[in-house]
Amino acid sequence: MRPLALSELLLTELQRVETDGAALPPLNRRLYLSLRGAILAGRITAGVQLPSTRDLARDLELSRNTVMSAINQLTAEGYLTARQGSGTFVSETLPELGPLSPARGRKAAQTAAQDGSPRELSQRGHLLTAQSGSADYEVQPFAPGEIDFAEFPIQLWQKLQAKYWRSLDRDLLDYGQEGGYMPLRAAIAAYLSLSRSVRVTLEQVLITSGTQQSLDLAARLLTDHGDEAWVENPCYWGARKALQAAGLKLKPIDVDGEGMAPSATDWQQGRPRLIYVTPSHQYPLGHVMSLQRRRALLQFAAQQRCWIFEDDYDSEFRFGGRPFASLQGLDDHAQVLYSGTFSKVMYPGIRLGYLVVPTDLLPAFNTGLYDLYRPGQLMLQAALTDFITEGHLNTLIRRLRVAYQARRDELARRIQRCLGERVQISGQESGLHLCLLFRDEDRVDDEAIARAADAQGMTVRPLSRYYLGTPQQRGLILGYAYVPTERVPPWAQKLCQLIRGQLPD
Ligand SMILES: Cc1ncc(COP(=O)(O)O)c(C=O)c1O
Repeated sequence: MRPLALSELLLTELQRVETDGAALPPLNRRLYLSLRGAILAGRITAGVQLPSTRDLARDLELSRNTVMSAINQLTAEGYLTARQGSGTFVSETLPELGPLSPARGRKAAQTAAQDGSPRELSQRGHLLTAQSGSADYEVQPFAPGEIDFAEFPIQLWQKLQAKYWRSLDRDLLDYGQEGGYMPLRAAIAAYLSLSRSVRVTLEQVLITSGTQQSLDLAARLLTDHGDEAWVENPCYWGARKALQAAGLKLKPIDVDGEGMAPSATDWQQGRPRLIYVTPSHQYPLGHVMSLQRRRALLQFAAQQRCWIFEDDYDSEFRFGGRPFASLQGLDDHAQVLYSGTFSKVMYPGIRLGYLVVPTDLLPAFNTGLYDLYRPGQLMLQAALTDFITEGHLNTLIRRLRVAYQARRDELARRIQRCLGERVQISGQESGLHLCLLFRDEDRVDDEAIARAADAQGMTVRPLSRYYLGTPQQRGLILGYAYVPTERVPPWAQKLCQLIRGQLPD
């Protein structure tokens, strides 16, 4: 983009801010909003150099101080990067959105304007869609989160569902009132108290359409627009989106080998309203939160009177070591909301999950669930109840655990044999994925590896994409659940060769 064109674009953006009807903020704030909006909307793409502050001030007919104030603010927030001696550029990695490629930015800009008539998304719309979780995501070997449908007992599932359709129980065609199908809530409560040490009565279990809805409901009912939410950094993109959609200000908190690791300042000065964590298997690094950290987090939440959302998405697949009880099970102050899903143990398209809610919040959550989403699918919930109570779920989990462990072992063995010390494998004790970490000194471009892998029919996720702001580590997230053990070696070899090609000698 030529400097002059950029100034013209900013003039238009300024006019937009000035005519949107709201009370006008000061000029430096208007320029800040205009420039930030244009970056988020992809109208100014990653890597573009800004004109000098002197030129911008002249073109926009503003004082240089006004321009510098806006530019400094955007630089401090990470939207712009100042390079000594060469000028100021739009950052490659945007705060809260992660890396923004010029191509993606251009695509966003093109979709924003059709036939010359701009059809604007909201600022929130831009924020939520600037980076897509599903685009360039193919279901092929190593796709994280994908499971092997071949293992699912389809005929049995058909039979259980057919039983309820044949029963002609018309009540099952209604909306799902009162938090879902009661026998399913009871079955889940029994399962959770036994296997995850969750402190739960059946009334506390609400059936949702999965983690995404559980998070959305919790964020909407417990937080207000602009409140701060702590998220792990790196963080699951689905959670990030749900919290941003609720208008929360995300504060990225580092992760170490013991899970979410707030700094001394965070512990002392942090004022989050909600904390989102994956303590059983940090997504994506895979660490298990230590007991000490769990206690510290619970104590902090009690002092601050904030909520903890525990996302326990894949702990059914634990391959070794002693399982930790849930965070919720250690909580003496009823401040943890515990969330689970059937996406991994059944199949993702089932869209059923559950949220365990503290007792005093139940009336509000029941109302919220019903009024905001009008839940249903009682036939499906009834069939799932039988699937659990007749023991099929436990049988399936046991079978999947054996299959996935063999796939993980094979993949880890091949990687170690081929790449040895050049990579570290993290988070392989449980779940459906492992995280391959590169050494800092190798300066590996994990995005480039992901693109090259895609061209060869493999989907791997670059770790850098999961960070808010500047990535702290480079690596790859590899899902192993999708590839049968006997097909792991050829695919692993292909991937390792590709990675080797990217590593310096
Ligand atoms: C961290 C995490 N939580 C939850 C889920 C599942 O979400 P849902 O229940 O909405 O399918 C996933 C899926 O990959 C995940 O990675």
